[in-house]
Amino acid sequence: MWLYLLALVGLWNLLRLLRERKVVSHLQDKYVFITGCDSGFGNLLARQLDRRGMRVLAACLTEKGAEQLRSKTSDRLETVILDVTKTESIVAATQWVKEQVGNRVLWTLGLVTNAGISIPRGPSEWLNKQDFASVLDVNLLGVIEVTVSTVPSVRKARGRVVNVASVMDQVSSFGGGYCISKCGVEAFSDSLRY
Ligand SMILES: NC(=O)c1ccc[n+]([C@@H]2O[C@H](COP(=O)([O-])OP(=O)(O)OC[C@H]3O[C@@H](n4cnc5c(N)ncnc54)[C@H](OP(=O)(O)O)[C@@H]3O)[C@@H](O)[C@H]2O)c1
Repeated sequence: MWLYLLALVGLWNLLRLLRERKVVSHLQDKYVFITGCDSGFGNLLARQLDRRGMRVLAACLTEKGAEQLRSKTSDRLETVILDVTKTESIVAATQWVKEQVGNRVLWTLGLVTNAGISIPRGPSEWLNKQDFASVLDVNLLGVIEVTVSTVPSVRKARGRVVNVASVMDQVSSFGGGYCISKCGVEAFSDSLRY
């Protein structure tokens, strides 16, 4: 019995090791479209993937953020201005992504919907509808609209979608739209996957 258990644990560790050793090949042929690249995780991810040779399509909220990012990266990295709360901005940015990737269906396109805000937040009874709506607009509707607009290209390129949620969707320890929005991102991603 113990021997079987030990063998099972050994096998599980071996499989994990093999999985972790897997690397994506031909990174220089892969595109990744990331939202919210002015600062924080999005900015860091854009710079790291650029350093690894990927073709990063970085969406920034401001021209200043885009300029600063371009100054720290290679010429491969391209930027576009995107406000995820504005449909016309999303339509223009996703059209730009399609043009960048073109018909190279074997080239992979990844999408990372990272843009997000966390304030206003506080005890719910201190907040009004607009306080909730402003966060949900960026973190939930923004994620949904960018994903829905980009998914046809991602599907064509046999790519991947990474919607950035948060542990706060499990531990809704403060009021406001943030935790609710991240729960919504989880549910939306599940429905998309199914
Ligand atoms: N930080 C954490 O501990 C943590 C933990 C779990 C999950 N997350 C999630 O990770 C993501 C990034 O968080 P972060 O900490 O890196 O935050 P951050 O530094 O504030 O970065 C968020 C980015 O989104 C941009 N943004 C804000 N409103 C936008 C809009 N309407 N349209 C497009 N872009 C917009 C911001 O631009 P500006 O800089 O120009 O405002 C910024 O570049 C978020 O989805 C967040 O919820 C963060």
